[in-house]
Amino acid sequence: MSREVTERLQQLRAQSAAGGGAERVAAQHARGKLTARERLELLLDQSSFEERDAFVTHRCDAFGMAEHKPPGDGCVTGTGRVHGRPVAVYAQDFTVFGGSLSESNAAKICKVLDLAMKLGIPVVGLNDSGGARIQEGVVSLAGYSDLFLRNTLASGVVPQISAILGPCAGGAVYSPALTDFVFMVEGTSVMHITGPEVVEAVTKEKVSSEELGGAEVHARVSGVSHFTAGDDAECMAQIRRLLGFLPLNNAEDAPLLPNDDPPDREDPALDALVPDAVQQPYDSKDAIRSVVDQGDFLEVHKDFARNIVVGFARLGGRVVGIVANQPAVLAGVLDIDASVKGARFVRFCDAFNIPLVTFEDVPGFLPGKAQEHGGIIRHGAKLLYAYCEATVPKLTVITRKAYGGAYCVLSSKHIRGDYNVAWPSAQIAVMGAEGAARIIFRKEIQAAADPEELEQRKIAEYQQRFANPWIAAERGYVDDVIRPRETRPRLIRALGVLHTKRDLNPPKKHGCMPL
Ligand code: HXC
Repeated sequence: MSREVTERLQQLRAQSAAGGGAERVAAQHARGKLTARERLELLLDQSSFEERDAFVTHRCDAFGMAEHKPPGDGCVTGTGRVHGRPVAVYAQDFTVFGGSLSESNAAKICKVLDLAMKLGIPVVGLNDSGGARIQEGVVSLAGYSDLFLRNTLASGVVPQISAILGPCAGGAVYSPALTDFVFMVEGTSVMHITGPEVVEAVTKEKVSSEELGGAEVHARVSGVSHFTAGDDAECMAQIRRLLGFLPLNNAEDAPLLPNDDPPDREDPALDALVPDAVQQPYDSKDAIRSVVDQGDFLEVHKDFARNIVVGFARLGGRVVGIVANQPAVLAGVLDIDASVKGARFVRFCDAFNIPLVTFEDVPGFLPGKAQEHGGIIRHGAKLLYAYCEATVPKLTVITRKAYGGAYCVLSSKHIRGDYNVAWPSAQIAVMGAEGAARIIFRKEIQAAADPEELEQRKIAEYQQRFANPWIAAERGYVDDVIRPRETRPRLIRALGVLHTKRDLNPPKKHGCMPL
């Protein structure tokens, strides 16, 4: 290679690596943000990054753009490794035209997505972008559309992860919204379709960018984001941890990670976890952590709809997706947000061959005008649909209440539950004893000399007859009634048996999920 060629190559690489220059990099750091390349370095195993398209430039000549064509065009793309396993990546560089999406850098991202699909490897997108490159007009919109199509086609084929690491506006939010997991960083991440100025102009409402679409809002209120980090470095560490639970693609199993937590370990503390009084709360995460390998549970959507808990863990080294009602929040009732949160997680696990373990203690769906008008029927049906449709191994542990429609929905035997067990504290009934007795014995109670005494007697009678696991066990609706302490060994043995499970849904283009 001639000296000129070598020098040119080095110069281009240096220009590409420099991003928008020292001043803009300093401004990025001053905001508490890392650059695109610094983020990739933290995300990927050391020296594993293979960059592609570092010399690509934009093709826009309007508004003085012809004089400024930085190589790489504000987006760093390629492949690398996380825990030794391959991953495709792209990172938008806010120091170059605000990380905005041009025709050229959209093509770079699409190329990465196409490659990920071809190789069957996950994609991680690090987003930090002002949206469509304003100078380019419609070709930038075309770039977004190309990207949205790729995200949609890749959905359910390879895991897609998005980190929001700066102000992401307009088109910059819809690509992440199409992916499986969204990460945000406190204080620096913002996601909204239009910013505060537009909101004020249209609705006269004054709102800050943070209030409109900051990390906390999307973690707690909208449910758009699944994980929140304190800074960029923590965010990269969180993404690495999540990837450790995921298969490379939908034709593979999640990585088996043998560990030294004995599969036959029992936990006597579980025998006393569920309080005798049905109204008394307890934390279902105590049950989860007790049962899974080394108590290691990666909770997803931690701050959204906290009345249901979802996340990843391992049992005997095998990855499982856990869904648990949370009696410590709203008594674990299923409302609109909990239904949608649960449904989304169940569908992800099903798409990627991750068995589902459900811990059930649910008083039913939340009654009331707000929920009915908000469409609890439609949203609750999503969770039902997701569980019915799922063909991965489905294991269910009924710890206490399994009332009404919620009993049917939560991975019951009737909707293809594979291994359904109950703790002796389980109450499998149409509703709680108090409500049931008041409805079916109403006339008798009203006519009684001492209505209160009769009501209590009838409640006790109903409780005695139905508030237990035995009738369900007699029918085979639960496969066994187990001591709580043996939950871990029983689940691990069942998972081993179910490993060869093959189940298919009828052939169709796609179902019509109640969206
Ligand atoms: C081109 C952009 C840009 C964009 C920012 N820049 N956004 N260049 N196209 N979309 C440039 C700025 O000119 C500036 O260049 C540099 O990036 C940094 O921007 P600042 O405004 O100085 O930074 P900051 O104050 O942090 O504000 C960041 C921002 C703001 C909130 C993202 O820049 C902004 O509001 N940008 C426009 C957002 C937007 O409306 N995008 C279009 C959305 S429509 P210099 O050279 O001065 O450093 C869309 C349609 C797709 O995306 C829809 C598909 C469904």
